[in-house]
This record gives sequence, C-alpha cells and structure tokens, in this order.
Amino acid sequence: MDFSLTAEHKQIQEAAYKFGQTTILEGLRERDREATSDRKVLEKMGESGFLGVQIPEAYGGMGADYVSLGIVCEELERADTSARVALSVHNGLHSMTIMQWGTEQQKKRWLPDLATGKRIGAFGLTEPNAGSDAANLKTTARKDGDHYVINGQKAWISLSDYADQFLVITKLVDAEKSGDGGKPSFAAFIVDRTTPGFSSRPIHGKLGVRAGNTGEIFFQDMRVPAGSMLGDEGDGFKVAMSALDHGRYTVASGAVGIITACLDACTKYANERTVGGEPIGKKQLVQQMIASMVQGREVGRLLYYQVGWMKNTGQRHTRECSMAKWVNCAAAFDAANKAVEIHGAYGFCDEFPVERYFRNSRGAMIYEGTHEIHTLMQAEYELGYRSDKPLKRVLPTWPE
Ligand code: CAA
Repeated sequence: MDFSLTAEHKQIQEAAYKFGQTTILEGLRERDREATSDRKVLEKMGESGFLGVQIPEAYGGMGADYVSLGIVCEELERADTSARVALSVHNGLHSMTIMQWGTEQQKKRWLPDLATGKRIGAFGLTEPNAGSDAANLKTTARKDGDHYVINGQKAWISLSDYADQFLVITKLVDAEKSGDGGKPSFAAFIVDRTTPGFSSRPIHGKLGVRAGNTGEIFFQDMRVPAGSMLGDEGDGFKVAMSALDHGRYTVASGAVGIITACLDACTKYANERTVGGEPIGKKQLVQQMIASMVQGREVGRLLYYQVGWMKNTGQRHTRECSMAKWVNCAAAFDAANKAVEIHGAYGFCDEFPVERYFRNSRGAMIYEGTHEIHTLMQAEYELGYRSDKPLKRVLPTWPE
C-alpha cells in the first residue's frame, strides 16, 4: 500500500487550491447573499481543465486518475460548495457515466466537448415524488421508430439552467423487453436541451449552495434518437446507480474540503480571539472541537482515497463509496456546526465564512443519497441483505 500523493497529484492539488481561493472566492459573498450563480466560474473551470480532469487524453481530457478528481473536489469545496457541485454533476454523474456505459461512438461524440466545458452535462433522476425511492420515478420513454418519446419532469437538478445536455433516467412503456418478473424496465438517455419539448425552471430560496444553480426540468413529447440511449433497454436503473457511485465519490471528497475550510477559519480565529488574556485556542473545549475536525478530515481523506484507488484499479466500490459519502458528509456538517460555535456571534453572520459552511454542508446529507439511505445500505451490507455483484459495464481503469 502506498498512501503518498504523486507529483501530479500535488500539482493538481496546488492548482485547484489556487483556483478556489481566487476565481471561486472572488465575489462569492455577494453571489451567496443574492443567491445568484455565475456561469463564468463554470467557464473558467473548463479553461483550467477541471471539467475534464478524469477524462482520458484520447477524448481531450487531462487524463489524470480518479484520486486527482477527488483532490480537485476537496480543494474547490474548500472555497465553496457550489463549484464542487458543478464537478459532481458534470464530471461525476454525467461524464464518468458516459465513460462507463458509452459505446466508443458515444464517447467520441460527447466526451471531448465535456472535457473542455464547451458543453456542460447534468443528471436527471430525482422527481417530485421519487427521491430516496428512485425506482418510483414516473418519467416515461416510449419507443417510436428509431426514436423514443419522453414525457415527465425531474426536480432538484443542479445546473438545470446551464447544462447543454442531461443524463435522464426514464421508465420504459410498451418496451419490447419488459423488466424481469413484471418489474418496471428503465432506460437512460443523453438529452440535448435544444430538443423541442424540453424546458427548465430555476428553484429559489435554498438554504445553502446559493451560488449554485438548481431547478426543475420538463419533457413534453420530447423525441430523442435511439442512439442517445446509454446502455440497453432495461439498463436505466443500473446506469443511474453507477452514476451515483461517481457522484457520491465527488461529494465525499468535497466534504473533506469543507472540514479543511472550517479548520482554516477556526485555527486563525482561535489564535486571534482572546478571552481572559489568552487566545481561545488555549481553552480545552475549543481544542476538543478542533481535534474532532482534524479527525473528520483525516478519516475522510483515507475513505475517499480508498474509493479513488478502487476506481483506478477497476474494483466495484458501491459499498465503500456509500461509506465515504455517509461518514464524510456527517463529519463536514459536524465540523461546520463546531466552527460556528467557536466563532460565537461572529459565526452567526456572513462576515466570517463558517455560517456558509454550516448551510452548505447540510445539503450534502440530503442529495446523492440521504444520510438515512446510506445508514440503511451499510447495515444491509453487513447483515448480508445487500451485496455488490459484478457489473455489466465497468469504468475504465487508470491508466487505461
Ligand atoms: N452500479 C450498477 N448497478 C447497480 C448499482 C451500481 N452502483 N447499484 C445497484 N445496481 C443494480 C443492482 O445490481 C440491481 O440489479 P439486478 O436487478 O439485476 O439485481 C439493480 O441495480 C437494483 O439495485 P438495488 O436492489 O440495490 O436497488 P434498490 O431498489 O434496493 O435501491 C436504494 C434502493 C439503494 C435506496 C436506491 O434507490 C438509492 O440509492 N436511492 C437514493 C437515490 C439517490 O441517491 N438519489 C440522488 C439523486 S442525484 C442528486 O442528488 C444529484 C444532484 O443533482 C444534487
């Protein structure tokens, strides 16, 4: 086992840290206050190569390994969650799922533009009445000649206004190949937003990730070519679940960035703020909170590095990824809560960043599998009720 970061990892880490502390933080407080996202940040992420970190060079990406993607997520979320969410959706849920499930023709068609950010990708699984119970989705796809006609709607879609294309999970109607034992059959499509019948509407009033774009997307008699299907008829749910293996990895690694940001803010504040003639960092109760954050950061890194390594080496990692997402997101929220506590009244206003970390970290315990879903998954694995079988299509290993 080798836990050391390579020279390339360190280089990417430094570049992502600098990008976060300059491009992302510039004007962020105002964007967060006014709840407006800035598409230029996304464009600059594309120019810097971050939108194609893990995409092989053959498809125009940076060709770095999956650990590098985690490192970029950690460093960008150290600045703000909204930037990491863009990576989760574009790199994780969208591009990596094409890398896993796409035919060679599909990879050549989509990955080069996604790698540079010329086109932005997003993900549509959740619906107003299908969140944790993802299989209860109601969006339908009906075969019509060499096209499918899609009807329905998706909710809580990150980058809904900016994405050029969406990975949309549908339930097949009149499918030639119905699901086993009468179970519904699903299909996944890459859908272009310029397709007639597509529309979107932003969601306002979010608790956190206010500098990020979230909304709903609608499909009315939207005709998509059969060649836009990822996998085969009946693979849709597996495509969705494997997309989550990638998205959850980016959320887990990003959560470590929040903890690091809490430590950045708290170590500075605890050394400067004095009570009774000494810095509050000398108080044991403050030290206890700092130590707990350090524990979250160190455990969190090991968990996501392990998942990155499993991705690199082509191992199934649904269980480990769920664990990393479950543990790290809870640790990030706990760290942010403690960071507010350490800052006292200053932690309650946006003069200091910790109130933003507190609001932002709460969301990650809901999206990409709630805290409760991951709790249940971990119990089910241990009890023998759930197991990870070999996959029909696997993510390319690194190096390929
Ligand atoms: N990769 C490939 N296939 C997989 C898989 C994976 N990771 N996980 C499961 N599968 C396959 C299984 O092998 C199974 O196949 P068979 O039928 O051939 O055996 C099939 O998919 C069904 O799997 P499960 O039996 O595990 O399905 P389930 O119904 O028990 O799943 C659940 C229940 C785990 C709770 C699942 O519904 C789930 O994860 N829910 C949470 C959904 C979620 O995370 N949503 C987040 C939305 S995206 C988002 O939030 C992003 C954003 O924009 C912010």
